[in-house]
Amino acid sequence: MAASPRAFVLRHTNLRPITGLPAIRLHLADEVLPLWHALQLETGDEDTGLPYWAFAWGGGLAVGRYLAEHPEAVRGRRVFDLASGSGLCAIAALRAGAASATASDIDPYACAAIPLNARANGVRVSAVRRDVLAEEPPDTDVILAGDCWYEAVLAARVLPWLQRAGARGIDVLVGDPGRRYLPVADLEEIARYEVRTTTELEDLELKQGRVYRLRGAVAVA
Ligand SMILES: C[S@@+](CC[C@H](N)C(=O)[O-])C[C@H]1O[C@@H](n2cnc3c(N)ncnc32)[C@H](O)[C@@H]1O
Repeated sequence: MAASPRAFVLRHTNLRPITGLPAIRLHLADEVLPLWHALQLETGDEDTGLPYWAFAWGGGLAVGRYLAEHPEAVRGRRVFDLASGSGLCAIAALRAGAASATASDIDPYACAAIPLNARANGVRVSAVRRDVLAEEPPDTDVILAGDCWYEAVLAARVLPWLQRAGARGIDVLVGDPGRRYLPVADLEEIARYEVRTTTELEDLELKQGRVYRLRGAVAVA
């Protein structure tokens, strides 16, 4: 019988600090393919999604670094973390002084990992498991979008959604390590960090993680 997603996350990951953001600990895996295989067996679904939630991605790492350096971007504000994976951006926002953080992901295993990771960092994150891109943007002050531009279909949905949020006065911060579908013309680079990920996921262990503000979104006071 399949275990709960929470039990699966705990069984297949180790809690450890992430490189470059040592104050944050996440339940992480070392290898993607064995974990994916375990997930396929667990769910009985060969087409089950990759376990994105078991890794800190370059975009999320860049956002985390930015918020550690610029806590004023989120301090006292309500934050929404789009495509949260492990919950990294939401956790970094709360540690930087955000008033609250909601994390969204369509993957039930991500939504199990997010509260586990939040708890390991002494913060509380509400996880929303649904396709929020099919709805209007939420009532929030800041949206964080870490590593959302790796796939054409998702990328095509994320930009107009973020633009609608920006038009309502929500501040939008994007983190990205140079993905193919990043809409650079609509973004203004505000910071750049060398982020260490893993060759399990990327061609190189060290990537340039950039943080952008959506053009047209309001700047932080
Ligand atoms: C590359 S991971 C990035 C995770 C995290 N933001 C980071 O930077 O570490 C992309 C995440 O997007 C999620 N995702 C894909 N489509 C989504 C959608 N429509 N709404 C919310 N999350 C989505 C995936 O499940 C995955 O967890």
